[in-house]
Amino acid sequence: MDIDTIERVYRRYAPRYDFYFGALFQPGRRAVIQRMRCRPGERVLEVGVGTGLSLPLYPRDVQLVGIDISQEMLLRAHARRECERLGHVAGLVRSDAERLCFSDASFDKVVAMYVASVVPSPARLVEEMRRVCRPGGEIFIVNHFHHANPVIGGVERLISPMSRLMGFRPDVSLQRFIEETRLEVVERAAVNAFGYWTLLRAQPSRSLAASARRPDA
Ligand SMILES: C[S@@+](CC[C@H](N)C(=O)[O-])C[C@H]1O[C@@H](n2cnc3c(N)ncnc32)[C@H](O)[C@@H]1O
Repeated sequence: MDIDTIERVYRRYAPRYDFYFGALFQPGRRAVIQRMRCRPGERVLEVGVGTGLSLPLYPRDVQLVGIDISQEMLLRAHARRECERLGHVAGLVRSDAERLCFSDASFDKVVAMYVASVVPSPARLVEEMRRVCRPGGEIFIVNHFHHANPVIGGVERLISPMSRLMGFRPDVSLQRFIEETRLEVVERAAVNAFGYWTLLRAQPSRSLAASARRPDA
């Protein structure tokens, strides 16, 4: 999917996004924020923050920044921040996850919930998450990956040509994702209904980030 398609699809989703994907995905949002074990004053970046359904779940003593490519989704996140007086949300910024508008090592923790199978290039998404995460920080991803069950996996393959319509790819393989992104996964857990989604905790290996920035690497 290209950026124009993503923006178009999420412009369409925005008014009803919370109704369709609010409760369904909330256990995974809750689980990842618990695993993040945020400490007071930590700088946290949420990539693809959408309508901001996760914002009230963070501890109020972190400095949270959310980015998203969709203006319509972000508008709802802004409204949530105002309505619920979420003072820990330091910024909600329109930015491309594959070209983040932050300096290297700006955050202690970087998280992407249900975004890895939406962006055009998961490898660039992870590379950017790695770049803006400080050495010793942590990266978290929650996503659905292609199911090992042949029937469920078969259905996912069958509907994958409709990705541009649905706004996500249902058949992203976890093994390929880890290979392509060279993600150093240190913890993996099943989340949401039937454990159908996966939570990954990873380290931002600095050597990988540096080599990826070198044009000859
Ligand atoms: C399935 S929604 C998940 C939203 C939110 N994380 C949640 O938990 O509901 C995917 C989000 O990723 C955003 N997105 C997709 N591609 C992006 C990109 N390249 N840069 C920034 N945001 C992107 C979409 O606009 C959308 O808000």
